[in-house]
Amino acid sequence: MLSRFLPRKMSTCPIPTPLTHQPPVIIVGTGLAGLSAATQLTKQNVPVLLLDRAEKPGGNSMKASSGINGAGTRFQTIPDTVAEFYEDTVRSAGKPYSAARTVDKERREKLISTVAKKSKGAVDWLSGEMGVDLSKVAQLGGHTKPRTHRGAKGKPPGAAIVGTLLDGLKENPFAEMRMKSRVTKILKESEEVVGVEYVDVEENVQSIRGPVIFASGGFAGDVHGMVQKYRPDLAGIPSTNEAREGSQPLLSDIGARLIDMEHIQIHPTGFLDFKDPSATVKFLAAEALRGEGGILLLGDGTRFVNELQTREHVTDAVWKSAAKLDSEGQLRQWDITLLLDEGAAAALDTHMQFYLWKGLIQKTTLGEVGQTALETIQEYADIVAGKKADPYGRPAFGNWTLSEPQADSVVYVGKVTPVLHFTMGGVLFNEEAQVLDEHGQPIQGLWAAGEVTGGLHGQNRLGGSSLLECAVFGRIAGDQAASFWKNHYLPAGEQ
Ligand code: FAD
Ligand code: SIN
Repeated sequence: MLSRFLPRKMSTCPIPTPLTHQPPVIIVGTGLAGLSAATQLTKQNVPVLLLDRAEKPGGNSMKASSGINGAGTRFQTIPDTVAEFYEDTVRSAGKPYSAARTVDKERREKLISTVAKKSKGAVDWLSGEMGVDLSKVAQLGGHTKPRTHRGAKGKPPGAAIVGTLLDGLKENPFAEMRMKSRVTKILKESEEVVGVEYVDVEENVQSIRGPVIFASGGFAGDVHGMVQKYRPDLAGIPSTNEAREGSQPLLSDIGARLIDMEHIQIHPTGFLDFKDPSATVKFLAAEALRGEGGILLLGDGTRFVNELQTREHVTDAVWKSAAKLDSEGQLRQWDITLLLDEGAAAALDTHMQFYLWKGLIQKTTLGEVGQTALETIQEYADIVAGKKADPYGRPAFGNWTLSEPQADSVVYVGKVTPVLHFTMGGVLFNEEAQVLDEHGQPIQGLWAAGEVTGGLHGQNRLGGSSLLECAVFGRIAGDQAASFWKNHYLPAGEQ
């Protein structure tokens, strides 16, 4: 009976020793969603095989710069609740949520409620059991409370979290990772997913059997393919994602439904690197730079927006107010300055060292930025001090400390422009991370987690909620697949 599940070709890399005779749970993608699932599975002694088309593991998760959300954690000094996080997420999700019909709305509610409720547990898991420093908390756009966690120093949050999970799996006898292994097909028999086909490092087509967790990320780098298909109007906007094709079509090929595909997040602040202004892939200016006190100025030195509004809102304001730059070729870029005082910069010391070293941010004086900017900052200092109301309604000022701005006051400035950043759409799934078909029914033997999924964020994802969904749904997918594997793949005597 078991032979039905045995991989057809196991010659290149056997599954590690403890369970050589049993097929693994197959995880497609080694970003945070895939690694969270793998960690959960191996804890239960279930063998996993992680496949990734990239040379190195970590996906976009590795690049995450602002942090992971959690409501009610021990690191938050300003009280916060699951209900407030839930409400902020619903507000940010907008029309796809508010206009949804009964079944669709219920599903979206359950997804939002699952991440809000499990957010504290995710931060506890990473910072407690896994030992990642997440002690620093910032308020990002669209949040009513500071709830985005990162480390106090050292690596940025994505690299810190992913590096820790990878270290944990490296020596684990139940985990195997095959890089440069591109999954090209999901295998389905009698309505059940039974494995995948992939092209290995030597360009050979391999097939392997086992239940499957899809954690293959989003498609914001697939600018000439899926972005062009779903949002041709976004052509020419640079991206924070490497140019790689999206993998969602592999799921729709076997009957999974895709939703919200037209909702693509434009992050308002990708760095314009003067050494390479026509780069189509940009470094991100982390939202935490604004959260910790940074502000945005137009080319003439005036403010134009509440910098702590949602990304959707800030990007719209850029498009309405900022001058378009003359860019090479098809590239569409706008003239915005990100400015931090010394207080805001000190709160993000490690990030700032990197940006300064890269030449993406310069240390200068207000006088050098310009007379209008100096006047804007003098007025802003009065707003921070509570002497004036902010015409844009910024709710918090982070670590801004400059109270008497002068021409020789030190500031840090960089040029930024909107960038394609995240895809809210993806494969339809439920709160148990099961992938659903066109009728909303679970496809047996298949789960999904992370950016490959759709429906949770509606038309705008809140900063910090992607790492969160990866940890929450990655772990749920791991638990679900573990139970399925024990029932379907483990011989009766070993259960
Ligand atoms: P990924 O981490 O992207 O991993 C997917 C993996 O799947 C990749 O390694 C890819 O190679 C592999 N893959 C894809 N298709 C295939 C295939 N067919 N076969 C084999 N392998 C495949 N979110 C936050 O919450 N907080 C932040 O601070 C934050 N900062 C960010 C900063 C940047 C610069 C970027 C780009 C994103 C940031 N995000 C942040 C978003 C967040 O990092 C991602 O949305 C999230 O990490 C996605 O995780 P994932 O596991 O779903 O996918
Ligand atoms: C950022 O650091 O601005 C990205 C945060 C996110 O995408 O959640």
